[in-house]
Amino acid sequence: MQRVLLHTATAAAPFYVPGLVAALEDAGWKVAVLESAAFPKAAIAAAGLKCASTKEKCDVHLYAPWDKAPVAESDALVAAVDGVFPGSLRPTCRLSLGRQGAVTIASYEQILEALEARRTVQDFAGKTVLITLGPTIEDFDPARYISNRSTGRMGVALARMAARRGAKVLAIHGPLSVSMPDVDNIECIPVRSAKNMGDAVLANISRADCAILCAAVADFSPCDYSEEKIKKGSRETLMLRMKRNIDILATIGSLPTRPFLVGFAAESTDVLKNANEKMRRKNCDMLCANDITAAGCGFASETNRLHVFLRDGGNREIPLASKNDVASQVLDLIREKMS
Ligand code: C5P
Repeated sequence: MQRVLLHTATAAAPFYVPGLVAALEDAGWKVAVLESAAFPKAAIAAAGLKCASTKEKCDVHLYAPWDKAPVAESDALVAAVDGVFPGSLRPTCRLSLGRQGAVTIASYEQILEALEARRTVQDFAGKTVLITLGPTIEDFDPARYISNRSTGRMGVALARMAARRGAKVLAIHGPLSVSMPDVDNIECIPVRSAKNMGDAVLANISRADCAILCAAVADFSPCDYSEEKIKKGSRETLMLRMKRNIDILATIGSLPTRPFLVGFAAESTDVLKNANEKMRRKNCDMLCANDITAAGCGFASETNRLHVFLRDGGNREIPLASKNDVASQVLDLIREKMS
């Protein structure tokens, strides 16, 4: 476990530090807070935090360089990680200081991701990874649409872990049920339909060294769109004619030059046979298959388990683990196969 020493001395400290410490500790960091006039020993202890008296024996010193700034509405404050990100984190988060006003600071998540990147090998530095994720939405009138149960969790985990490893991530996503890490090296391109997603992928694919297509793309979309909300009237049934959508993965697989290509397959029967066949038919370098009927593997699950098929032969099992851990192992394989 790595230790962080948090240096802070502003009036913002009592408002900011407890939440930051909780966020870091949740992620497995051990944090000690250095006392200051604004946040004395007694206040640190009252907030249930560990007070540090020395800078020694810490792996990372996390400075709050806003210390000299006056606390006012317009303050744009940033946090810096010792020696690595001096002042470079974007202030994005507004924090109320009660009667003393408000400040804008880097979010806990930005700071956490900066620390995580610091303890992670930057083996994707200089690489651009395009990821599709989440569901698509196929509208058929102004109020209604067809979609699916994808939350985007696995794709968000892949984006987070690739960004931690130094990649520039292009995340092309439908509506997500979980939030994407708010870090500078993830560029989000929100889309709605399969057509929008296909257009965005084709427009950006030449920037990518690797493309991981894990979106749950609708296979069909309604043939017609009604500008007016469809009235039920007196009818007992409603027919919706559907047409086939572009298969984005197969389209990229057929390009004469393409990045290292990874597909996903959510299967409920004959997982191994179907996935192997899909990898060849869609011409990808790697296909990650999961059995969505298995325990811990469903759409909204926090965990996953994958069978990974490799184009150059063989396959690997990634056992049941958190989606972050599974994402890391997928990225390990991609790194190994790309080089
Ligand atoms: O054929 P199937 O939908 O099972 O294939 C799944 C894989 O293909 C996933 O990687 C998914 O993102 C991709 N896909 C796609 N475009 C579609 C359908 C699936 O890119 N229209």
